[in-house]
Amino acid sequence: METKRRNLPPKASAMAESLRGLGYSTATALADIIDNSIAAQADTISIRFVWGKDKSLIYILDNGLGMDDKELELAMKLGGRSPTEKRSRTDLGRFGLGLKTASFSQGRCLTVASKKRDVLSCLRWDLDALAEGTGEDWNLYEGPSVDGEVLLALLKNFQNGTLVVLEKLDRVTSPESTEQDFLDLMDAVEFHLGMVFHRYLGTRVSITINDIPVKPWDPFLPTHSATWSSPAEKIKTPSGIIEVQCHVLPHKDRLDDQTYLRSAGPDGWTAQQGFYVYRNERLLVAGSWLGLGQGRAWSKEEAHKLARIRLDIPNTADDDWKIDIRKSTARPPVTTKLRLIRLAEDTRERARRVFAHRGQAVRIGQARELQQAWKIERIKGGARYSIDEEHPAVKLVLESAGDFSSSVRAMLRVIEETIPVQRIWLDTAEAGEPPQTGFYGNAPSEVQGVLLVLFRNLTEKKGMSIERAKQYLKEIEPFHLWPELIDALSEETLSEVRS
Ligand SMILES: Nc1ncnc2c1ncn2[C@@H]1O[C@H](COP(=O)(O)OP(=O)(O)O)[C@@H](O)[C@H]1O
Ligand SMILES: [Mg+2]
Repeated sequence: METKRRNLPPKASAMAESLRGLGYSTATALADIIDNSIAAQADTISIRFVWGKDKSLIYILDNGLGMDDKELELAMKLGGRSPTEKRSRTDLGRFGLGLKTASFSQGRCLTVASKKRDVLSCLRWDLDALAEGTGEDWNLYEGPSVDGEVLLALLKNFQNGTLVVLEKLDRVTSPESTEQDFLDLMDAVEFHLGMVFHRYLGTRVSITINDIPVKPWDPFLPTHSATWSSPAEKIKTPSGIIEVQCHVLPHKDRLDDQTYLRSAGPDGWTAQQGFYVYRNERLLVAGSWLGLGQGRAWSKEEAHKLARIRLDIPNTADDDWKIDIRKSTARPPVTTKLRLIRLAEDTRERARRVFAHRGQAVRIGQARELQQAWKIERIKGGARYSIDEEHPAVKLVLESAGDFSSSVRAMLRVIEETIPVQRIWLDTAEAGEPPQTGFYGNAPSEVQGVLLVLFRNLTEKKGMSIERAKQYLKEIEPFHLWPELIDALSEETLSEVRS
């Protein structure tokens, strides 16, 4: 027996209204529209914010391949292409929705005019018109709106290209909005687009907003000498090859103020740590630990804020990585989780060290370890900090203390037991930086005093040559921070101290 069926299409007006609420911002909506321009091989994309109170509009003009009437009609259709359809390797789309959902999230009227081989086609959705009558019909208008008409002239000199016009911007402006509010939006949009498309900008594609070029923002500061980068690693997965490259950005002290501010990113250093997931070189996720972690998912902590990891996935992996309609989330498949956790753990540890040492190298030269004054011992549930009695300055006192050495040791234990760990921790969280330690940034006279005592001890008591003693001092904390003071030590210094 044949099963009875019913045809039950969604109610047009209600469906279109619901799709407005996917959570786009103006910036993410425009990025989704630009994806289509780039997928259509455009290399010049102009965005314009046109203020006109309730007649304000935003348009995006590209010189891509354009569409003929049939293609344009399919482009306007919700779900015109299925998510399961195989896409070309460079396609940035997936769900056949982006153009519509992104546009509706900002305004109630979407016009697309496109030219292909000099033939112009123009179609328009208007949510107010959809709501007319019973609201059941998907009525698509031919031609632009009354206000949009003049804009068609923008395509005049194009053989191929596409113009997307967003009008009735009820989600962008309100009756109270001023022109300044509207124009202020452009800054956030500029930064977001500069971030999302930074690998396209400056090489393959130019984007302008009201004639001002969007500057690329590279999250990894790859050209800075103090950035640490791992070699790029290719990982085979069932849905294609992914590539991972780990970076630890320079400590604040190694960056000038402007670079430090700009490199932070739109949400600030701590929020911008973690994986940066790119799909076909377009950024989807700007800093997230992707739910990875040991036992518990890692959260974003101050101490790991310098860790940023580039992760490239192909568009054949969308399903595996659970790419969402807004292209703003991605979840690693189980098969790759373990590898990613390993890489992230190593990067987080490196980032933590750079953060804690204020960017000073802990190793000198190739392999020699720095002689540190504090020993950190990892114990279950935390760490124990103790003073290293092998540190030359400590050793010197202990050796010359004679009968007093047990009292000196007792004093050291008191210091170890009472370091204000809680206080330091709080101060760090508050300032976003570890507190400056004793010698840090001070006029080196205090350092010089201690340095001279040690220098004298090494050369006179330990019988080291001046050169050997100087080399030795360079490997001791905190003197390694002032190589120029050590370089200045000489025979004369010694005679001056003696007299
Ligand atoms: N600027 C454009 N230039 C050429 N074709 C476009 C443009 N914008 C959209 N299209 C066409 O419309 C289709 C639907 O776009 P969209 O709704 O964003 O879904 P998706 O990008 O997932 O396919 C695209 O696949 C493309 O064929
Ligand atoms: Mg798209």
